[in-house]
Amino acid sequence: MPKNKIAYLPGDGVGRDVMEAARIALDALKFDAQFIPGDVGWEFWCREGDPLPQRTIELLKNTDCCLFGAITSKPKEEAAKELVPELQNKGLVYYSPIVRIRQEFNLHTNMRPCKAYPGNPLNYRDDIDLVVFRENTEGLYAGVEFHPLPDDVRRTLSQHPKMARFEKISSEDIALSCRIFTRGACQSIVRDAFEYAKKTGRPSVTVVEKPNVIRETSGLMIREARKIARDYPSIELWETNVDAMCMWLIKNPQDYSVLVASNMFGDIISDLCAQLVGGLGFASSGNIGDDYALFEPTHGSAPKYAGQYKVNPMAMLQSTKLMLEWLGETSKASALEKGIAAVLEEGKVRTYDMGGDATTLDVAQAVADRIRS
Ligand code: IPM
Ligand code: MG
Repeated sequence: MPKNKIAYLPGDGVGRDVMEAARIALDALKFDAQFIPGDVGWEFWCREGDPLPQRTIELLKNTDCCLFGAITSKPKEEAAKELVPELQNKGLVYYSPIVRIRQEFNLHTNMRPCKAYPGNPLNYRDDIDLVVFRENTEGLYAGVEFHPLPDDVRRTLSQHPKMARFEKISSEDIALSCRIFTRGACQSIVRDAFEYAKKTGRPSVTVVEKPNVIRETSGLMIREARKIARDYPSIELWETNVDAMCMWLIKNPQDYSVLVASNMFGDIISDLCAQLVGGLGFASSGNIGDDYALFEPTHGSAPKYAGQYKVNPMAMLQSTKLMLEWLGETSKASALEKGIAAVLEEGKVRTYDMGGDATTLDVAQAVADRIRS
């Protein structure tokens, strides 16, 4: 029996290309696992009306963790048009499968390292080493949304003095997306950020919110962060508003270490941080819960490059490294990271985004050769 059972979900577009790259590296590491492929993505939405079929959820439940490629998402109306004729006009609504997996498996912590590897010509600076901890299940992603505004919701909201301004606007003309924060989730993401800082000897944790305006939700996050920070006297808690954070990240990114944010702000700043160290081709992530986790590069499915083996597999390979760490395979994780770092440092095998003409699989092969040597 192989030691690990991994759900293998390539998804759409270049997700398939980069997942092959991950397998090349894992094979070089002699990672002992059974990979169980699962259906997820656009094709299943169009054909079955569900991009995350129930059989895939069952598959995830029967594995240790999941390696995930990428997913194509489209806005509501566009998605509905691409359904097969027999599923049209049945009121089916497309929901992002990755957001659903995060919520259904309570993968509350989205960890996104952004580190400038020596030799990467795309680094904004060479001394950046940031890790974003993004709350992964609630906030503006909770999915509690209305349009038009239902009468009962409207009646309840009208008791709030700030609603007076909207009184004359028809319910058809109001859309509402609720930003839901729970104390438990705020505590858990901040705790994870501090625990990580402690384990890795990092000096500070910066909580990125906007409590001067979004008083209740951001306020709750900040208050919980201050309480938790007391348990870590050697690590500084910095508080920064999200808008200013975007500015500071361009001005002095090297000053920051661990960032912690709610779901939407974490989504936004993590793309910014990724660009500081080479762009989405370097944006890895782990979606981590108490007893399950999913690892994915955070770039999209880039349909125009699908099957061309053109995109940079570094984000996928770094996500694979996070998976190995989570599984406790620390020596394999560090061998993979050393392979990645060596190929970047040497600078001979580079995909187009780095100014080279190597394919996705060439890069994976170069990393694999380093691992074997
Ligand atoms: C990410 C992505 C997803 C998100 C999309 C694909 C739903 O942007 O993982 O950052 O918004 O979380
Ligand atoms: Mg994103």
